[in-house]
Amino acid sequence: MSTTTSASRRIAAGFLVLAASAASAWAAGGHAPYGFGTTPTESELAAFTSPLPDGRGLPAGSGTVAQGDALYKGQCASCHGDKLQGGIGDRLIGGRGTLVNDNPAKAPIKTVESYWPYATTLFDYIKRAMPQNMPGSLNDDQVYALCAYILSEAKIVPADSTMDAKSLAAVKMPNRNGFIPDHRPEKFPPVAKSPHQMLGFAGPLK
Ligand code: HEC
Repeated sequence: MSTTTSASRRIAAGFLVLAASAASAWAAGGHAPYGFGTTPTESELAAFTSPLPDGRGLPAGSGTVAQGDALYKGQCASCHGDKLQGGIGDRLIGGRGTLVNDNPAKAPIKTVESYWPYATTLFDYIKRAMPQNMPGSLNDDQVYALCAYILSEAKIVPADSTMDAKSLAAVKMPNRNGFIPDHRPEKFPPVAKSPHQMLGFAGPLK
């Protein structure tokens, strides 16, 4: 009985020593106490954060409606339809004014045009997730072009538009004010800085 107790004390003491040395390595600014992992680079961090509605975090580059039209036909129409009417993939345009109605037989038609509050989300979504069979394959200019094309087909921007970090962030989506703020108190106190600023890689848009 007493042997067991002193053995467990020795084990417990061993753990304490280990924990203390790990903590001092951590405090000294080394890597994680378990000895694996590396400090992420800015571009690695960028893969986990989305551009903000005001354009911060959007990359350089640009694309026109005409360029987007050609890309859409080649890489998107097979799933989203040649008129963006949907198919295997979602319908992308139309449905404005259907979100709020009193007729239970009329379901709301949620599309990029009718529902999405910020155009910057379109860039982020396409860049990360589309085409569904090859996500991540489009470069930034191509994604801007596709945004320009979809927004133009939705009659949100003119057909001769060019989209870049500034012009995309300046687009006012039709349902921009269709969302109601949630008035319940926040569990965590509000932070003064945006997630991008906290990560220190996206300054104000120039
Ligand atoms: C292989 C089929 C396929 C291809 C090709 C494809 N998509 Fe999609 N797309 C989908 C599916 C399926 C969804 C719905 C995904 C989900 O809800 O998780 C989707 C969703 C989307 C959405 C979000 C729609 C919404 O309202 O939520 C956008 C925007 C979009 N795709 C754009 C594109 C663009 C631009 C291309 C061409 C570069 C493309 N997609 C190519 C299948 C496809």
